Amino acid sequence: MQPRVAVVGSTMVDLIAYVSRAPSAGETVLGDDFRIGFGGKGANQAVMARLLGADVAMVNALGDDVFGTMTMANFETLGIDTSHVARVPGASGVAPIWVEADGANRIIVVPGANGAMRPEDAVIALEALAPLDVVIGQLEIPQAVTAAAFAAARALGAKTVLNPAPAADLDPALLAAADWLIPNETEFARLSGSSSEATDAEITAFAAAAGARVVVTLGSRGAALLGADGVVRRIPASAVRAVDTTGAGDAFIGAFAYGLAAGLTEEAAVGLGVRCATESVLRPGTQSSFPRGDRTLELLAGRD
Ligand code: RIB
Repeated sequence: MQPRVAVVGSTMVDLIAYVSRAPSAGETVLGDDFRIGFGGKGANQAVMARLLGADVAMVNALGDDVFGTMTMANFETLGIDTSHVARVPGASGVAPIWVEADGANRIIVVPGANGAMRPEDAVIALEALAPLDVVIGQLEIPQAVTAAAFAAARALGAKTVLNPAPAADLDPALLAAADWLIPNETEFARLSGSSSEATDAEITAFAAAAGARVVVTLGSRGAALLGADGVVRRIPASAVRAVDTTGAGDAFIGAFAYGLAAGLTEEAAVGLGVRCATESVLRPGTQSSFPRGDRTLELLAGRD
């Protein structure tokens, strides 16, 4: 059977401006390029897991606007189950993004319809979608929805993976239902109250306090996995020249979730996540930058 993954999370349409230098307050600068693409941390993670071969369902709410219609068509083209993607009155989520010359980004998320998701609908969706191997969540929809979904997922025998992004304090009910916590360095510093360097001791202490398994993503330095044996292993990324880092963290999460669902070792799942994230920074755009086709087979085989 194919690995089965559900994402209870966000969708956005990304409005990306490429600039050599971001403007200061009150300043106007000329941009170099502009793209509209499919985004949202939840949708991006769903797409990466799907491109690697998982059977993926999205649980989400879209607006009744053209962005909602385009997003639904994108999921369907990719073969993602949309039977639990609702359409609600109003605007779909959007994300204005600036990408500077070194590939670094600044993102504003306007959740729109993502904020209309309800806990009871997420629970009904997961019960209908079971059996599931992994359920993924982020923080771009109400935390109460993700908390209810994770509790249901656990009761159904699925592993839960929380990407606590964008950085925010966590609802205790959500934290209690998360098997895996996967922050980046900034989110790790916010949640743990420690340095953004994510030392081995800080990661170990954070996991003990959270009561969850932990991976910290480290951008161009790869990721740190706290193993079940209590040892922190650092999985490096290949050195590349980044064009656009938007969605790289989501490529990691989607690939890691695929790996867990497919029965890879945890270290192999992290390695796959690092390779997919590294590949995604080589091209502009969010989902459009993710590896596909034969390239996914190479990445699955462990080749950079
Ligand atoms: O992680 C990148 C994503 O964050 C973008 O696609 C944007 O939509 C925001 O959700």
